[in-house]
Amino acid sequence: MAGRIPEDIIMQVRERVDIVDLISGYVQLKHSGANHMGLCPFHNEKTPSFNVNSTRQIFHCFGCGVGGNVFSFLMRMEGIAFPQAVRRLAEQVGIEIPEDEPDDRELQRRKEREQLGQIYEVATDFYHQLLLDDPRAAQARGYIRRRGFDSEAVRRFRLGFAPDGWDVLCQHLKQQNIDPDQAKQLGLIRTGREGRNDYDMFRQRLLFPIDDLFGHVVAFGGRVLDDSLPKYINSPESPLYHKSRILYGLFQAKNEMRRQRKVVVVEGYFDHLALVQAGIENVVATCGTALTADHAKVLKRYVDQVVLLFDQDKAGQQACFRAMPVLLQAGLQVMTLALPEGDDPDSCVRREGAEKFGERLDSAGSAVDYFMVMTLRDAGDSAEAVARAIDAVLVMIRQVPGEIERNLHLATLARCSGVDQAVLQRQLERTTVPARTEAPKPRPSQPLAPVVGYDGSQNRGRAGEQVKEQGGDLKAQRLLLALMFVDACAAEQVKEVGVATVFDDPLCIRLAEQIQDSYSQQRQPGEWLLDNCEDPPLQDLLTQILLSEKELVSDEVEKIFGDCRQAVLRGQLKQRRAELHTQMREAEQQNDSDRQTVCLQELTRINRQLKSR
Ligand code: GTP
Ligand code: MN
Repeated sequence: MAGRIPEDIIMQVRERVDIVDLISGYVQLKHSGANHMGLCPFHNEKTPSFNVNSTRQIFHCFGCGVGGNVFSFLMRMEGIAFPQAVRRLAEQVGIEIPEDEPDDRELQRRKEREQLGQIYEVATDFYHQLLLDDPRAAQARGYIRRRGFDSEAVRRFRLGFAPDGWDVLCQHLKQQNIDPDQAKQLGLIRTGREGRNDYDMFRQRLLFPIDDLFGHVVAFGGRVLDDSLPKYINSPESPLYHKSRILYGLFQAKNEMRRQRKVVVVEGYFDHLALVQAGIENVVATCGTALTADHAKVLKRYVDQVVLLFDQDKAGQQACFRAMPVLLQAGLQVMTLALPEGDDPDSCVRREGAEKFGERLDSAGSAVDYFMVMTLRDAGDSAEAVARAIDAVLVMIRQVPGEIERNLHLATLARCSGVDQAVLQRQLERTTVPARTEAPKPRPSQPLAPVVGYDGSQNRGRAGEQVKEQGGDLKAQRLLLALMFVDACAAEQVKEVGVATVFDDPLCIRLAEQIQDSYSQQRQPGEWLLDNCEDPPLQDLLTQILLSEKELVSDEVEKIFGDCRQAVLRGQLKQRRAELHTQMREAEQQNDSDRQTVCLQELTRINRQLKSR
């Protein structure tokens, strides 16, 4: 067997490749909301039922039932196996995959990454406990309280406190037998100069743990408790932390972002915390770094609209204007609003309260219009200066996705500047946008390949057909799977009664086991599970479950369990009935009337049971 590709590499590839980009190379897609529709390449159709969901990075055909993620698509499309699909996409986005059997070095690398993640977990826990109840953190607790935050916020975001002292963490890590060199790699501790002992990176600072997309802490931001400088220090880049791809709070915000198709982007940790405490959940913070194309791409998976809510000062405005092109180029709609002079979101929401602030937020307007007004206002009166300002505005307008929107902005610009719209239009066509530097789009190496299941079988891949074969029985099982997917308790309950008592469909059983495995590894099942299900029919089923976003109320849960049990029993009864039919025929041929009678009795009983259910 060829060497397995490390899970983190698969994850990286999946993060880098955009499913809409990939599939657009094969299928002409039309945009509608979060979804892209097209003609299914896997079956013949005249009206589009092939759906690509950019938020969840999965595809699904309502016609033939196939579905999956970027890898599944390539597997089916090109008739290749999972590892080949990963390798091909990895190559396109420039991620290197170690060849063949993982050699010792590769195994070592994987082990190290795991250990590194573990170190952050230990450090986060240590600092968090300290903040919660250690006497050394009394001042920090006071500071947080004074700034208006409660302990719920502290717990939810696992805020921590690094006390004064040079080696508090060093000592703790030592007790836990953690390799100091690894802690250094993560920037948690440093080597002492001139032969002195190692020392902690964070001292006497309030700590904000920064999560990656999967909810693992990969860095800290640390604030002083007074006016000393620097106000913040952040963990350095490390094998785990790439700040150009990470936004503070994204892991917690993404469900609400997905729901509203909208995200509020603020600058600071405290802005983030204040908004969340005011009940605004779809918020992330840039934390002093410039928004990158990678950030925008990640956001685009969850939202269509970004509200930039930066400090109301010169620096905040600059940051806002710099972020706009990046977001526009990613196809996002960009909104903004002006806060009262000198305010930042934290101070504003605190003064005004959640409700008033919410109204303010709802009044956000187009960031392009805001840019236009500010740029023209600052330009002065000379024709040359106004022309330069207009040029800058045109560059921005040029990047707006959507021709109609561009045209509307142009009309506004004509009104605000007094320049004829036709002139502006001509100028816009001459305007070029500074090149953006990004990973090349994955391009398909071959045109449409013939439609065959990648393992050669034509039918097994059609989960849609199974629905028809098995009728309603499968429906309950799927509902139960969907429930297990979001609810660890349901998964636990299934485990207790035994998978085989509630599922009889082999695919459902396999998926149920995958879901239980995820929970036992303490991971919430999600789109990532597709990578663990390499069998196309299983991927189809999983995709359908992922897309069935039925909200379940608790009294339905019992019913679903009951229905599943019934379905399994029915299946068993039907199977027994088939056996009895065979036995009856045999008995008939052998003229064994006693046996015939026994069979007939059981058959009657079974038929009655089946009827009453
Ligand atoms: P408060 O002043 O306590 O309200 O903090 P804030 O989070 O609102 O900070 P501010 O608006 O000054 O800055 C926004 C963000 O930029 C911060 O949350 C940090 O992520 C980052 N930042 C600010 N100052 C520094 C600094 O001195 N060093 C670094 N590395 N980052 C900083
Ligand atoms: Mn602030």
